[in-house]
Amino acid sequence: MSQTRIISPEELAAQRPFTDWVRAHYEAQGIAPLAYIRSFGCQQNVADAEHIKGMLAEMGFGFTEEPGEADFILFNTCAVREHAEDRVFGNVGALKTFKTRKPSLLIAVCGCMVQQEHIAEKFKKSYPFVGLVFGTHVLYKFPELLAGALRGRKRVIETPNEDGNIAEGIPVRRDGDVKAWLPIMYGCNNFCTYCIVPYVRGRERSRKPEDVLAEARDLVAAGYKEITLLGQNVNSYGRSEGFEVDFPELLRRINAIPGDFIIRFMTSHPKDATPRLFDTIAECEKVSRHFHLPVQSGSNRILKAMNRHYTRESYLEVVDYARKAVPDISFTSDIIVGFPGETREDFEDTLSLIDRVGYTSLFTFIYSPRVGTPAASMPDPISAEEKSKWFQELTARQEEIASRRLADMMGKRFRALLETDAGGFIEARLPDNVIVRVQGDRALLGHRAIVEITETKSWILIGNIVEIID
Ligand code: 5AD
Ligand code: SF4
Repeated sequence: MSQTRIISPEELAAQRPFTDWVRAHYEAQGIAPLAYIRSFGCQQNVADAEHIKGMLAEMGFGFTEEPGEADFILFNTCAVREHAEDRVFGNVGALKTFKTRKPSLLIAVCGCMVQQEHIAEKFKKSYPFVGLVFGTHVLYKFPELLAGALRGRKRVIETPNEDGNIAEGIPVRRDGDVKAWLPIMYGCNNFCTYCIVPYVRGRERSRKPEDVLAEARDLVAAGYKEITLLGQNVNSYGRSEGFEVDFPELLRRINAIPGDFIIRFMTSHPKDATPRLFDTIAECEKVSRHFHLPVQSGSNRILKAMNRHYTRESYLEVVDYARKAVPDISFTSDIIVGFPGETREDFEDTLSLIDRVGYTSLFTFIYSPRVGTPAASMPDPISAEEKSKWFQELTARQEEIASRRLADMMGKRFRALLETDAGGFIEARLPDNVIVRVQGDRALLGHRAIVEITETKSWILIGNIVEIID
């Protein structure tokens, strides 16, 4: 059974005096404080940052895109690959001059990266101008931590290691008004051998279905047109808790909320993608026909070494079943190149798998050793140059697959959500998650339209709005 701690309403209410204290602290100095928040990594981090912004807004903060103007700077970090960590160290290092120029500035780092002991230690020792460091399990205590850092002479470093908690009712300030993130679960129990997530995000735990549904209803009532359900492994929603509502049932209930909106979700683990899930998607008209199903590798030997609990064959069975149940479904995937011990033959299995599936797009990564994970101590004889060549080969192969797919779409008409103002044009998203650039007025954002594809440029589609639906 999971060791999830539910943060009680009283514990959350205990944050109130700290919120008030921070507000008063700036008011007393006649300052209208500004915060600069930058998130790295996945959508869960973006969702966490929306809660941090919600708390900051209650403390009287406004927001800025200019770190030079800020009274509070926060980096919300990702630990999945070394490259992201290096960027954070570089970016935080560059803030030192801001602190020298404005000593009242508070610089903070939070998120997955600092949940690792050696990283928290590094910030403590080598980044003395960082006044607040907090991990993934104390987000609900942010007002208290911030007040402590502003009040005291001492730096606040709080990165307790626990199985994880769930806190309902933290304020939220969403980044957009068309698309919304809706976390349904946190943490991961899978321990894929390359992955740091189970160590930094704790055990898998799900929010109660009634809490998820209430938030989904609020979002629809507020006019959101696209709701993305978030979790490391949404297919095992409710399993640790023994909820009667599993993921397909949750989809069915959200789908039943009256209103015109699209439901997306990520991420799914192939071992838990059941026929029932695809049958449910087929019946739920609001659920997007796009499925992100990370395969990681096409080689059974590597999948086993990764501890993924499925084979190439069983993965392909899932894809085939899904296509039968939901004929217009499209797939995207994550792939790791150069896992320790991967050979040319293993890599070719990955190439043949992507040919066979025909993904719309791929997120491809070169394997990055993570401290404390089993794969980090596996023999890894292939050189970085060789891995980089394989990586290029994989992306080139995927481009061919994608451009063939896009070329097939020329002249056809699709329903699309007019989603983002991209400066000079609008990005519209098709049901299978492909983006089309169309000309149009900003006022059309959030509407749905029929678009016709008029041009394809490698991976970019260009189209015209034929008709506004709603
Ligand atoms: N190295 C490279 N890629 C990784 N991912 C996770 N851990 C690592 C790692 N150590 C990738 C996986 C996962 C995605 C979010 O990041 O493909 O699905
Ligand atoms: Fe990492 Fe695997 Fe969990 Fe995904 S399922 S977060 S890759 S351990």
